[in-house]
Amino acid sequence: MDPRCNVNSFYPGLNWSDTEGRSIQAHGGGILYNCGIYYWYGENKDSETYRVGEITDWECWRSDVTGVSCYSSSDLIHWKNEGIVLEAVRDDPSHDLHTSKVVERPKVIYNEKTNKYVMWMHIDTMHYDYAAVGVAISDNPTGPFKYLRSFRPNNCDSRDMTVFKDDDGEAYLFYSSEMNKTMHITPLSEDYLGVGDHFSQVFVGQSREAPAVFKHKMKYCMITSGCTGWEANEAQYAVAESIYGPWTVKGSLCTGENSARTFGTQGTYVFPIIGKQDACIFMADLWKKQDLRESRYIWLPVRFKGDSISVGWMGKWNLSVFD
Ligand code: GAL
Repeated sequence: MDPRCNVNSFYPGLNWSDTEGRSIQAHGGGILYNCGIYYWYGENKDSETYRVGEITDWECWRSDVTGVSCYSSSDLIHWKNEGIVLEAVRDDPSHDLHTSKVVERPKVIYNEKTNKYVMWMHIDTMHYDYAAVGVAISDNPTGPFKYLRSFRPNNCDSRDMTVFKDDDGEAYLFYSSEMNKTMHITPLSEDYLGVGDHFSQVFVGQSREAPAVFKHKMKYCMITSGCTGWEANEAQYAVAESIYGPWTVKGSLCTGENSARTFGTQGTYVFPIIGKQDACIFMADLWKKQDLRESRYIWLPVRFKGDSISVGWMGKWNLSVFD
């Protein structure tokens, strides 16, 4: 067994094993907290990586879709593999979940009104020219999720995305649109299965992607990356008093060495630790583009100071940093 299973620390960037000693496969992930348990959903990339030859203007490395994984934990360090909760489809090449497609950045939120767990994700062709969102639903956090459909929100192209559920139960979809140039924010319908007909445009023409949204002391905060494929770039954050904006760009998220490359990573999610004050974790992916299944995770605490936030490097840490 991996020795780290016995210790109560995070080791950003190192191999992170589940409780059976196997590397966690939950890339581009997100967290759902439900009845004392955290659920980590993400892309299972446990298949060969290859480069899509026809695409020459950027490095389109990919691994065939295997599905969306789910892991559960009560302490955020020891994760039990709950299996693949949304399976790839192997026999229908036209299906959104076919192994040849793209299923990225899955996020799950719970709908109190319908008592359902709803998963949103980026659905695409291997050439990234469909640019849509997909929706799946389940009665249980550990699935199985039933895939419902894909569509282009507000009739716009949508690539990197996330969903954010507010304290009042309203939820929103954030998606990079207009060929990744502009971020769109649109409300989810009451059942969380669709979107409203209005949206706001933020970071217009600034090419931001990988949105991660959270709320702290009544303010909304959005971390984004620049747009450089699997290569790391500088994460920035912005704050807003209203979800639709205006969003004020505050600058770089990270501090210290390698902060201009977000410690070699790209953000995917931020979540609060239940029961602790001012305690949020920034989740990011350390992509290994030529061997995507070996990509690692970087989880680091978010530091709050007045209206500012920052993330600094720590090679080893645990939840006591929040005490
Ligand atoms: C990144 C994006 C990833 C993946 C990758 C493909 O920009 O954030 O989720 O789509 O491009 O190259």
